[in-house]
Amino acid sequence: MAKPFHLAWFMNFSVDEWNTPFASGGKPWTGQFYIDMAKSMERACFDYIMIEDTLMISDAYGGSMEAYLKYALMGPKGDPAPLAALIANHTSKMGVVATLSTMAYPPFMLARLCATLDNIAEGRFGWNIVTSGENHAAQNFGMDELPPRQARYDMADEYVQLVKQLWGSWEPGAVVLDRETDTYADYTKVKPINFEGKYFKSRGPLNCVPPVQGRPAFVQAGGSPRGRQFAAETADSIIAAASGVEAMKEYRDDIRKRAAASGRDPDEVKVFFIVQPILGETDAEAKEKFDRYVGSPSYIAKTLSVIASVTDIDFSQFDLDKELPPLTTNGEQGSLNAFAQWGSGKTLRQLTIENATWGLEGVVGTPETVADRMAGVMEEVGGDGFLITSPFQRVSRQYINEVCEGLVPALQRRGVTRTAYTKSTLRDTLKEF
Ligand SMILES: Cc1cc2nc3c(=O)[nH]c(=O)nc-3n(C[C@H](O)[C@H](O)[C@H](O)COP(=O)(O)O)c2cc1C
Repeated sequence: MAKPFHLAWFMNFSVDEWNTPFASGGKPWTGQFYIDMAKSMERACFDYIMIEDTLMISDAYGGSMEAYLKYALMGPKGDPAPLAALIANHTSKMGVVATLSTMAYPPFMLARLCATLDNIAEGRFGWNIVTSGENHAAQNFGMDELPPRQARYDMADEYVQLVKQLWGSWEPGAVVLDRETDTYADYTKVKPINFEGKYFKSRGPLNCVPPVQGRPAFVQAGGSPRGRQFAAETADSIIAAASGVEAMKEYRDDIRKRAAASGRDPDEVKVFFIVQPILGETDAEAKEKFDRYVGSPSYIAKTLSVIASVTDIDFSQFDLDKELPPLTTNGEQGSLNAFAQWGSGKTLRQLTIENATWGLEGVVGTPETVADRMAGVMEEVGGDGFLITSPFQRVSRQYINEVCEGLVPALQRRGVTRTAYTKSTLRDTLKEF
């Protein structure tokens, strides 16, 4: 029997597919579209749906907001927290993860928001911990520019310590609901934390009851060495972009080593790799779909706009038919590395086309073809799962159907992915295998 692996889905509260032949969305702001999506995913037994977020409209590509607004890329975006509450309310077993930035929320507000969401979700809520990676996001919060990565993660370390203490400020058994003595909560079990760190200060206690899970599940996506360290020490599930099987294996092995070195059981850190399958009724039909997608007139501008926005590098300045010069960023270094495939000798045009499947070959085909490939990759990498996404996070009901009614059942027939939920909380679901 092959070792089973996990599935999650990477999306955002942005515009759904609206102008392709089998789509008519574009105004998903009631959340209803994403509720329907989550229900399909729960039928397919995904561990969690992960709502990505950023906090600005970019102008990194060509120094203009044009591409971002014209193509609705990385925005407009609704706030993930209320959508997480809606999805939680319309599902009963699948986890719901919202991205909340340590740069944007005072720790007390985040601790309270996560506790509230985990209670609404009855223990199925997860927090995707990000530090934000764009200058324009920092400028929306009163800063002139983004602090350097090292400082952002040092602050995040302290931030996580603080919010954990706030969640622990209500001892077990603090809520007594004793009719006899008219006592809702035992005040001797709810205590201030008086946290005073280098960056943050908070008195506590939390003014809401603690999360069902004690703390929400932690999701993280560190890519740089500093980011990987933070993720390995903190996360229950890590989401990663890597170009190819070798890079995936290197990433997971490195995370497991770092987790063990920090005293954690590496099996408690589940690494999920992003993948973008392109599915058809025949392999040839899927290939045609892929060719149409990467050959569409706006494909290159859209892809380069997205990578520009998360790195603050203007990719419109580079020749498409040459190799990229060496580049570094204070933004998403991991995403830049995965995109650029340093040393591969590939031109920017080739990199852009390969980005259509996030650098993983063999995921264009029938559900059977792609399921075989995914199972094979997981065997080589060693685990722990995939984070499925769609082109530019643009989702249609047709694509949801292809994945949830085609690809996932093919994986389930191979015995490699979940066919039922046996645990009630997200943290336990992640730990099940
Ligand atoms: C699959 C994936 C999803 C991510 N989602 C978000 C997100 O929703 N919001 C955000 O600000 N950053 C997001 N990031 C960026 C990471 O938080 C992180 O900054 C990035 O991977 C680069 O790593 P580094 O910070 O160690 O350089 C994501 C990264 C990956 C690979």
